[in-house]
Amino acid sequence: MSESKPIVIAIDGPSASGKSTNARIISAKLGCIYVDTGAMYRTLAWYALSMGIDVTDMAAVEALCRDWPSKLVRRENNVWLEVDGYFPEKEIRSSEVSKAVSYVAQAPYVREWMKEHQRSCVDFGDLVMEGRDITSNIFPETPHKFYLDASAGERQARRDADGIEEDLAARDQRDSTRKAAPLVVVEGATVINNSGESPEETSARIIALVEAQRQA
Ligand code: DC
Repeated sequence: MSESKPIVIAIDGPSASGKSTNARIISAKLGCIYVDTGAMYRTLAWYALSMGIDVTDMAAVEALCRDWPSKLVRRENNVWLEVDGYFPEKEIRSSEVSKAVSYVAQAPYVREWMKEHQRSCVDFGDLVMEGRDITSNIFPETPHKFYLDASAGERQARRDADGIEEDLAARDQRDSTRKAAPLVVVEGATVINNSGESPEETSARIIALVEAQRQA
């Protein structure tokens, strides 16, 4: 895919709604760069925990974010944040980080910082970007907006199958009710409930919609 202006396929949705799996398939099929913005928040949460910061102390988290040694890096078709040249790929999936991350994500300065960095990802090329506020706040101008969802039972079962212990409902509640850029379904987004559907089926539906939107 290429055009003079980079294409952005924006995917939002609650935890374990299939965003990452589908975004990975779509980016590979369309030759786009995949950006997992949750991984960016998780990287900051991991860094805060490793520095002994209380993640519920918003001022402390914001102070840390103001000058942490991080940089956006492209590796193959992924873009992620490295801290001192290191991407904590495994560490950011721990239960500690999963519990801490939605506190870090509530801080207004953190959200501004993430917005600036996430928007700058178009410098790398066409994007499939997934998170909680991509359609509403990061790239509201894109015509390719999707909101993925699945039943609460199926989402919890997917997370359990990953071997990650956490209370998804509590995290979703924090992500949807926070003041700064909460998870919402925006006007113009296509809502896709993928309960009982395979990622191949869901990603094919999204690709077909993107193709139709590009021809409209
Ligand atoms: O997608 P994930 O579960 O890895 O995201 C981790 C957390 O990061 C999620 O609970 C809320 C936060 N997040 C966010 O606030 N905004 C985004 N665009 C992406 C993630």
